[in-house]
Amino acid sequence: MTKATSAAGIDVASVDKALTTTRAVRLRLDLERPVDPDIVYDCIDIAEQAPTGGNQGSRRWIIVTDPRIKTKLAELYMQTGGEFMIGARDKIAGTGHPQERVMTSAAHLAEHLAQVPAIVIPTIMGRHDGSGRPGLFDSVVQSVWSFCVALRARGLGTAWTTAILDKDAELRELLGVPDGNTQIAMIPVAWYTGDDFRPAPRYPARDIAFVDRYAHTWESGPSDPPCLADGPGTVVEVDLAAKPDDVFALISDINFGAPFSEEFVKARWADGFDGPALGAEFVGSNVNTTMGEWDVRCYIDRYVEGKEFGWCTSDPENPGARWLFQIEPIAGATRLRYSLRLGPGPSGINSVISAMPEKESRILFGRINQLRENMQNLIDGVEEALQTTG
Ligand SMILES: Cc1cc2nc3c(=O)[nH]c(=O)nc-3n(C[C@H](O)[C@H](O)[C@H](O)COP(=O)(O)O)c2cc1C
Repeated sequence: MTKATSAAGIDVASVDKALTTTRAVRLRLDLERPVDPDIVYDCIDIAEQAPTGGNQGSRRWIIVTDPRIKTKLAELYMQTGGEFMIGARDKIAGTGHPQERVMTSAAHLAEHLAQVPAIVIPTIMGRHDGSGRPGLFDSVVQSVWSFCVALRARGLGTAWTTAILDKDAELRELLGVPDGNTQIAMIPVAWYTGDDFRPAPRYPARDIAFVDRYAHTWESGPSDPPCLADGPGTVVEVDLAAKPDDVFALISDINFGAPFSEEFVKARWADGFDGPALGAEFVGSNVNTTMGEWDVRCYIDRYVEGKEFGWCTSDPENPGARWLFQIEPIAGATRLRYSLRLGPGPSGINSVISAMPEKESRILFGRINQLRENMQNLIDGVEEALQTTG
């Protein structure tokens, strides 16, 4: 547990709360309550403490409060994103579509932008040339985020928006921004209504942060040297040009992976089970040169139609491994994530480690890499199958 005040004398809980609850505020912007410009200036002072390439202070901010300019901004925003957002909201209203809430909120902002008390457009001197050189775009984004967090801590809401940048020239002309500057975002600023915000659902760090090598995950630690008790794992991911349901149909077939694996041969439903469902069981047959041939009983412990399909092996109370497919719609595509975590219970690898305990971490890395290769082959197979059928 984090102490309330750190050794650095900082109230960690408050900082963490501001960082984890600075949401895109659109529906809850208070359009009636004026915003004192001093608050905005104060928060820009704070934001200016963010790092900047070469320690050059090149950020320039425009705080728009003039109703005529706000109306023009709202018109531009309507053309670049608002009309689309309103159309999308109306189309998916009441359908339970994953984007329903975001679109309701985004459309609301588009419809009310001119009434937002202040609209801030951060710019940076210099034109972003896409060269990948540090110092420009990456010298301003972190500062604008500090600005949003500082406002949040004071009770004001913001939303990071970029749709208006599709009319870069028109925006530049409207605000008189020199050709040499890059316009970064458009941030509506208002007091927010209601009491509080909650952290958003995000992947846990241990699922998406890797130690030393890409895609090496650890449930705890890792110790030095890493060991099986640390819960080693791995993940492969791909963005597919396909519908989530089509991807799910493939990966929830327990025999789909066999042709792509050097180890997994086939699977059959255990007695009393005949298809994927939460609590269903199947038996997987495997073979490899180190461990020979073996069958393993698998227990489906994660199952949400179209979204996730996961199972643990050997003993649901103390599994030897946990496997999981997750499917997530992203803009114009479907992201497929296939992950594995070894342990905490015993599996074939335990006997290999027992024979050579001094080589535990080498054995682990070797095993993870071997499994990951098969997982990658399966993912490639999904992509291929979708291309063939699609
Ligand atoms: C690069 C970027 C561009 C965005 N552009 C827009 C936009 O044009 N309009 C909008 O309403 N929201 C925009 N957003 C806000 C996202 O929709 C928002 O972050 C997302 O819905 C998640 O909400 P949260 O930030 O509260 O977790 C943008 C966010 C980012 C990071």
